[in-house]
Amino acid sequence: MPDKKIIITLDGWSSCGKSTLARAMASALGYVFVDSGAMYRAITLYFIRNQIDIADPVAVEKALASVQLQFVFNPARGASDILLNGENVEALIREMAVASRVSEIATLARVRQFAVQQQQRLGKEKGIVMDGRDIGTVVFPQAELKIFMTADKDIRVQRRLKELQQSDPAITAAMVRDNLEQRDYMDANRVESPLRQAVDARVLDNSNLSPAQQFELAMGWANAIINQAN
Ligand code: DC
Repeated sequence: MPDKKIIITLDGWSSCGKSTLARAMASALGYVFVDSGAMYRAITLYFIRNQIDIADPVAVEKALASVQLQFVFNPARGASDILLNGENVEALIREMAVASRVSEIATLARVRQFAVQQQQRLGKEKGIVMDGRDIGTVVFPQAELKIFMTADKDIRVQRRLKELQQSDPAITAAMVRDNLEQRDYMDANRVESPLRQAVDARVLDNSNLSPAQQFELAMGWANAIINQAN
């Protein structure tokens, strides 16, 4: 009998390595991996490019009607890239210009509704690992395994700095720290689906864990639930 498929959610603070872990788990389990943050980032890129006035609900509605998001597998990365209206924007959405606006745009109820609907559709068949901020609380409250990730702030700054400096060597630790603090604050204090640890989530603090160690811990949780479900 084939394994029963489950839904795994990974929520937590910015730059905790959620996507890295989610991708590794999905690959080991043969599940689909979805980086929900990429969806908010791609929407943000569209809003920046088209100078959408986010205070104008009609303009926001019109903009969303023109946004089409798709994920396509990129074998070179071993992960899916996001397409915005057919254009591969995976690299662009990681840049500071988007990072500095995304939390603000993700506070809009209509934007969240738009993204959540698509996320729920992607999880219909289960067999999915999705990372974000509200995946265990709002998108899939029924998920079998919910992980809440956290890590020391200095460690998160260093990790993000390394990543960003690959495309822009001028980025400094202070810039990254400011952006991270701002995003943490906005993500946790917004009215619509703020970042919260689901009551039934397991906490994974990876400050002092290697990627291999955290993978082993999380896969232990996942396999225990999958075996129980069979
Ligand atoms: O995971 P990330 O850093 O790529 O996410 C980018 C932003 O998108 C983050 O600052 C908050 C928002 N986000 C959200 O509000 N809800 C999600 N499920 C995922 C991301």
